[in-house]
Amino acid sequence: MKEQPTVIDIFCGAGGFSQGFKEAGYSILAGVDNWKPAVDTFSRNHKKSIGLEADMRSLTVGQLKTLVSEAKVNVVIGGPPCQGFSMGGNRNPADPRNSLFREFIRIVKGMAPDFFVMENVRGLLSLKLVDSKMTFGEKILHDFNSIGYRTTIHTLNAANYGVPQKRQRIFFIGVNRRQAEKAILPPVPTHSEHPTNGLKPWVPSKQFLLPPQKVSKRFYYSERMINGFIRRKKKNAERNIGFGWQFLDFSKPSNTISARYWKDGAEALVKYSNKKIRRLTPSECARLQSFPKNYKFCGSEREIYTQVGNAVPPLLARRIAENLLNYF
Ligand SMILES: C[S@@+](CC[C@H](N)C(=O)[O-])C[C@H]1O[C@@H](n2cnc3c(N)ncnc32)[C@H](O)[C@@H]1O
Repeated sequence: MKEQPTVIDIFCGAGGFSQGFKEAGYSILAGVDNWKPAVDTFSRNHKKSIGLEADMRSLTVGQLKTLVSEAKVNVVIGGPPCQGFSMGGNRNPADPRNSLFREFIRIVKGMAPDFFVMENVRGLLSLKLVDSKMTFGEKILHDFNSIGYRTTIHTLNAANYGVPQKRQRIFFIGVNRRQAEKAILPPVPTHSEHPTNGLKPWVPSKQFLLPPQKVSKRFYYSERMINGFIRRKKKNAERNIGFGWQFLDFSKPSNTISARYWKDGAEALVKYSNKKIRRLTPSECARLQSFPKNYKFCGSEREIYTQVGNAVPPLLARRIAENLLNYF
């Protein structure tokens, strides 16, 4: 393909997904999200793209086409909210957020791109719809196939693509049957925990951590909080629920950083000693998600943690985007 392939990103958040596609040479026409801080971040870092603050439940295909001046859209990408599916969430099949994938399917149907890539959490594959034997995964596959897209689901771990974070997510990747009959294969991993055959070793988290003296005191936990964590971990173990706090192994990619990291960071803490424990700063989280160093986030600290934890790691998105170029 001679011209730059074009992309629209719906539920764009801070633009992690778009960033990867941009790095792979695509032109991001527009990003849409209903959360102002995220749209501000998207617009600030994607200056050639249109950032639109809008609710995807009411945005019509016609409005989207007008927004991009009726340009041909080659790829629709996006990550509809996943809180209702997440193993860390309530997993309620009736959670209204679970139906936002329908907006993604509606937009794909209306825009008729050559490809789409939709990201989500693995919990979606096992959760059953209300009053149905079908899982959300099966239903979504069925719906994409019925609008003419050969669709496959890939479970990818970001660490296997050079991201300094263990993060498993699913990607529905579809190709318009008019474009190609071949299903899309997943991108070939570049990194491995146990590298052989030319693969590189997983990227360790330590490369992206600030030196301890450069981290503001407010990120360090007091003795009282540390004792609270210890009590909670013990209680959780007795009741056989949750993990309690978890520490980074500096020689490995970080644990998954979720959108809830702002609460107490328990999923990925930095431990220097039993008394010196801290959470990651927002910029460390962004780097562990493979955002470029100069990526600027908008909003409060809590909003920035949320945007970062929500994102598709740009480096993983880039590998997916580069792989897709083979099918144009
Ligand atoms: C998982 S995040 C997307 C992250 C993004 N793909 C990235 O890589 O940075 C989901 C996004 O959907 C947005 N969202 C939730 N409900 C929405 C709605 N009804 N309309 C538009 N955006 C919505 C949230 O504000 C959030 O930014």
